[in-house]
Amino acid sequence: MDPGCPYIKKEGIEMAALTKVNAFLHGGDYNPDQWQKYPDILSADVELLRKAHINTVSMGIFAWMALEPEEGRFTFDWLDERIETMYQNGIYTVLATPSGARPAWLDRKYPEAMRVDSYGVRNHHGLRHNHCMSSPVYREKVRIIDTKLAERYKDHPGVILWHLSNEYGGECYCGLCAAKFRTWLKDKYGTIEALNDAYWTAFWAHTYTSFDEVEPPYRNGEQSVAALKLDWQQFTTWNTADFMKAEIDTLKAVTPDIPVTTNFYLTEQLDYAKLAEPLDLICWDSYPCWHEAGTTPVHTAAQTAFTHSRMRNYLPGKPFLLMESTPSLVNHHPVNKLKRPGMHRLSSLQAVACGSDSVQYFQIRKSRGSFEQFHGAVIDHEGSDRTRVYKEVQALGEDLQRLAPVLGSTVRPKAALVFDLPNQWAVNLISGLDKFDKKATVTAQAHYEALARAVGDVDVISCGRDFSEYRLLVLPMLYKVSDELGEKIARFVEEGGTVVATYLLGYVNDTLLAHLGGFPGAGLRRVFGVWNEEIDSLWPEDENHLRLTEECARALKGLGDTYTVKEYCEILHAEGARVLAAYTDDFYAGSPALTVNRYGKGLAYYQAARLGSGFLTDFYRAAAEDLGLRGPELPEGVEYHLRESDTARFHFYLNFTGEAVRLTGLPEGTDLLSGCRPGSEAELPGYGVLCIEEPKEARLD
Ligand code: GLA
Ligand code: ZN
Repeated sequence: MDPGCPYIKKEGIEMAALTKVNAFLHGGDYNPDQWQKYPDILSADVELLRKAHINTVSMGIFAWMALEPEEGRFTFDWLDERIETMYQNGIYTVLATPSGARPAWLDRKYPEAMRVDSYGVRNHHGLRHNHCMSSPVYREKVRIIDTKLAERYKDHPGVILWHLSNEYGGECYCGLCAAKFRTWLKDKYGTIEALNDAYWTAFWAHTYTSFDEVEPPYRNGEQSVAALKLDWQQFTTWNTADFMKAEIDTLKAVTPDIPVTTNFYLTEQLDYAKLAEPLDLICWDSYPCWHEAGTTPVHTAAQTAFTHSRMRNYLPGKPFLLMESTPSLVNHHPVNKLKRPGMHRLSSLQAVACGSDSVQYFQIRKSRGSFEQFHGAVIDHEGSDRTRVYKEVQALGEDLQRLAPVLGSTVRPKAALVFDLPNQWAVNLISGLDKFDKKATVTAQAHYEALARAVGDVDVISCGRDFSEYRLLVLPMLYKVSDELGEKIARFVEEGGTVVATYLLGYVNDTLLAHLGGFPGAGLRRVFGVWNEEIDSLWPEDENHLRLTEECARALKGLGDTYTVKEYCEILHAEGARVLAAYTDDFYAGSPALTVNRYGKGLAYYQAARLGSGFLTDFYRAAAEDLGLRGPELPEGVEYHLRESDTARFHFYLNFTGEAVRLTGLPEGTDLLSGCRPGSEAELPGYGVLCIEEPKEARLD
């Protein structure tokens, strides 16, 4: 083990295997199982990978059929040869378990492995990612193949990381899952009476007399008890984590020194905060729709940075990897546009700027046939190093080598935004407001974008996180607040933190029962100094406005006089809070729309209405200024991120506009990408990136 390797410095993890690659991981999904009849291609690939500065391949994903062509007969020779050849050529293996897709023989013999849909209908064989997480037979088959893999490769020096399955997700409504759900509910509530109370089942005579009567929320069944649906989503997370944990236990029993991860993706279906717990590190698959019509790469970049931050924060302090991205185009967007020249470099370095210690692709070689044959890849069907995409990947490999000092450094913001998946589910389960789209995610992203513009990096965190690391905490649409969470927020403010909450704060507890005694509940009425009596929903063409008070000019500098409000207006009573703005229209004109309350040593802002990006930008800029958290002044369209190690700060400037921009007020240091010292000003070309290494003052001790 190299004691200088940055991975070792990350707290509390045994990363022995991973530390062998003392460089950014650069590689991705590689499927030699598909190319066994093309040995010339397989051997030519090695040279192409080396020339592209690729140092890892993720192998074995979806390779079950190549590993166990019939039940109990295992064929590892092809994989032995590939892992060894790669290793001899300086390329390490991220080894997958094959549980993401099942062989036809398995489904035919054990139909219980196939998932049942929300109408109670069992799937036919096909596709992938669709097994039942409860099936004992499937779990046993996975245990056997995982054990074989672990035993076979436990001593191979080329294997550095386990890649569990692929993008765990989805849900199953089979009898096995339904029975497990009932047991899970029994463990959670103890008695059926407690469940009835928690669900308020007296409504419409839905009271259960026994756990045996409780069914999953089938599409043609119980769709009216939101708390049951919320529990089902939490159960599905638990069951998926339990399946995953079984895979981890199998591997760790044989290979305790090889870290384990699984690739997360852009979904809100599972509570990743729970899935993260037993993993050694987080990685995810990022496929933004760059160059989408009707939006700009600047906006797409902000949404992507939001998700990088969200993923990175599922395991703070541990390595964070980009596991998949496309070097060119995908096949699953509505319109599959090529990444324009330069966007591959820019989007990859954005992941690095947001904390990733890798850039990896789906996929290395484009498959010849089937579902993803026209998805982008490092090596095209043409097969040479002459393609535009290959050359961009190769150039990026060189960039990653130049960025070596950044490896292992971390992003350490002082501002955080709470984006908690069970809360997102709860908001989407509200029967009322805008019936079809509550816009909980886009609202969180809008707050993130405006806040990040003001402060630079923002952590996107779950409710379980320790808030005391932060100075500023944003709670967009935090509707579900338990008494415990309410107390935690109160403590944060009391001890000097600043919190910004919006409409919908603290309406319900963890089983979606409304807090009695006025919103926001869970003790937050006194923290914010407001009582929210009613909420008005506006039609898309409607708007209200808010006008700032003189008090606001004293509290927050640089805001305008009026702002437009859309979609939601709560009608507040200030109970000790200072009123910073009031509505101008409708029967609640004059009532508070923006307030601030001093509570203990901290401040609690409340935004009672949905406000646009103009307001959010001005508001967060002023709040950040007030807290001394302002990041650098940047031209429109430039994103800034900061990674830090013990000895240096790495300032990333990413220009998501196609035009050159002028940067001023740059820190002293060297741009690692060009090797030049830019001084305090520099021109950044369209899609350009700077990474300035600023040494920290030498310690006197
Ligand atoms: C996902 C999967 C890959 C592949 C890519 C295509 O992230 O993990 O197997 O399907 O999408 O973009
Ligand atoms: Zn099932």
